[in-house]
Amino acid sequence: MASAGLSRSVSARFSYRSLNLNSPRVSSAAHRKWLVPGSFFNALVLVFFFVSLVLVLCCILYLYWFRYLARGLVPSFNGVVEGCDVFDGNWVRDETFPLYNSSLCPFVERGFNCLANGREDREYLQWRWKPRLCEIPRFDVRDMLQRLRGKRIVFVGDSMSRTQWESLICLLMTGVEDPKGVYEVNGNSISKTIQFLSVQFRSFNFTVEFFRSVFLVQQGLPPRNGPKRVKMTLKLDKMDFMNQRWVDSDILIFNSGHWWTPTKLFDVGCYFQVGGSLKLGMPITSAFRLALETWASWVESMVNTNRTHVFFRTFEPSHWSGLGQKLVK
Ligand SMILES: *[C@@H]1O[C@H](CO)[C@@H](O)[C@H](O)[C@H]1NC(C)=O
Ligand SMILES: *[C@@H]1O[C@H](CO)[C@@H](O)[C@H](O)[C@H]1NC(C)=O
Ligand SMILES: *[C@@H]1O[C@H](CO)[C@@H](O)[C@H](O)[C@H]1NC(C)=O
Repeated sequence: MASAGLSRSVSARFSYRSLNLNSPRVSSAAHRKWLVPGSFFNALVLVFFFVSLVLVLCCILYLYWFRYLARGLVPSFNGVVEGCDVFDGNWVRDETFPLYNSSLCPFVERGFNCLANGREDREYLQWRWKPRLCEIPRFDVRDMLQRLRGKRIVFVGDSMSRTQWESLICLLMTGVEDPKGVYEVNGNSISKTIQFLSVQFRSFNFTVEFFRSVFLVQQGLPPRNGPKRVKMTLKLDKMDFMNQRWVDSDILIFNSGHWWTPTKLFDVGCYFQVGGSLKLGMPITSAFRLALETWASWVESMVNTNRTHVFFRTFEPSHWSGLGQKLVK
């Protein structure tokens, strides 16, 4: 409404000016032959011409302006929206979910296969992430499989990474015609402690891999002459030994968090180390920060981020809801 008013007043001003500027010219001899019925009619034609021109210009401007303003408010068709933070949003119910049936996927870990283990409610499967300012395009398995052709996707982290690795494979398998062409390259089966798993999608020539590295930094023997309770150390300034194997990838997804607890560190005799020295009194939060700084500078110096998309996932809900649940039942 406002812009319609604007264009009208602009065109009125322009037509008034063009009338004043051009009326002397129409009296020239060349024009008089062509525009026969007198100067009043000529002026009218000219006014009409200029008003039309200005209106067309205003329409173009208006459309351009509207599109410019609308950007960031209205999602574009490919779902890529400038200025939309996809992490700012919430979970909404969606009856069209889940996207795969876990009973039909051979890569679901036994302990986490709720349906197969007899869980009867289904509502927990029907949630979809909704960013506040835009829509994420619905998962399109055909499109995704084509995009991943020839690529290498690597997950690095703890069991949270492993279950996400499993979920991604199950999602992708729904679009594959020969399920036998999707296999773990070493014939390994999934277990809690396995270090490396690589699933090949043969007809699309890509792999989805998982490296178990719960701290991301290097675990090793303590320096000599340390206190007896120190059985091993976490070298906060050195990346996990396997880091070379992660570099040459297209998508690299890390996580760490749930293992940075006294139970998983100090209670089993694992203490922190920086350079050659033990850091017995260092709080876990400081150690975690140092490890992440080591990780970040490793990404900067070792990963070609022109090729590799790097993601880091921090804490997320654990596998269990509530400490009691595991103990009681
Ligand atoms: C999943 O697959 C199993 C085995 O074919 C089937 O019994 C079950 O009904 C399926 N569940 C859903 C929600 O489709
Ligand atoms: C499979 O992908 C790799 C890149 O990861 C490429 O070098 C190779 O040529 C591809 N093989 C086929 C058969 O397309
Ligand atoms: C990445 O791309 C930038 C800009 O295109 C270029 O300057 C840089 O050298 C590239 N880095 C690598 C490691 O290829």
